[in-house]
Amino acid sequence: MLSVADFKKLTDVIYRRTGIKIELKRYEVLKPKLERVFEQFGYDDFRSFFHDFRFEKNPDLIQEILNTVTINETYFFREKYQFETLINEVLPHLHQIRPPDETIRILCAPSSTGEEPYTIALALLDEGQLLKARDFELVGIDIDSKAIEKARAAVYTPRSVQQVPPHLLQQYFIQRPDGKYELVDFLKEVVNFQVVNVMERQAMRRLGKFDVIFCRNMLIYFDEISRREVAMTFYELLKPKGAVFLGHAESMNRIVSVFKTVRSGETIYYVKE
Ligand SMILES: C[S@@+](CC[C@H](N)C(=O)[O-])C[C@H]1O[C@@H](n2cnc3c(N)ncnc32)[C@H](O)[C@@H]1O
Repeated sequence: MLSVADFKKLTDVIYRRTGIKIELKRYEVLKPKLERVFEQFGYDDFRSFFHDFRFEKNPDLIQEILNTVTINETYFFREKYQFETLINEVLPHLHQIRPPDETIRILCAPSSTGEEPYTIALALLDEGQLLKARDFELVGIDIDSKAIEKARAAVYTPRSVQQVPPHLLQQYFIQRPDGKYELVDFLKEVVNFQVVNVMERQAMRRLGKFDVIFCRNMLIYFDEISRREVAMTFYELLKPKGAVFLGHAESMNRIVSVFKTVRSGETIYYVKE
């Protein structure tokens, strides 16, 4: 049912709405998955599906298509050195310069299934002193509603928790009979998860201002124009002296020049002056 030409039309609309560039090489893998969604929503030809998709007739259909094309790969303590820099350098500095009663707000955009914001929570608990001295708020957003559901449930495979230090795994996870690891309840409540598209500036503005933004391993799927748009949204959302962390394959210098680049050991982060 889904020809290559149809696939191109569909991915073009997805790109304009989300910034995600879906390459033609994903056609063979995505075709049966997308066709299953068409069937699930009762479409027997691409034309009628595409009409409803393009003119936003059914938000559930749009969400299901987006959930199908996203790549959610993530795990706890991914690129661990970045969390060390956050805890040992960036947050202590922000703690020093912010008014004492101000909450330090950290955004993970995108958070996928939650491992990244929960890693920050675990790293803060492990360090201990910062949490005693001030309030922190963690927000995780993703365009994929299924990923956000999983993040809220916080049940993970052994592979996903492989890099969690043993003492933290023991203290903050419950091993279930099915071999999966479930985060303890109080930690599930520490992160505020929401379904948000980073390309929708109004929705992003509603999240408020942040001290730190993690945006790792998403911009690699975006093209240059969308990357720039997202970078400028982050600039707007950041408080002065706030910092952005990108994935190791990504660089802000290649996107916009408004941030100051800071190198600290293996980590590079970007500061709003
Ligand atoms: C590979 S995961 C990265 C997760 C985590 N930050 C990490 O580095 O481990 C990429 C995530 O980006 C999300 N994503 C893609 N486009 C998005 C958009 N326009 N707005 C919000 N999230 C988006 C996908 O749904 C996916 O969960």
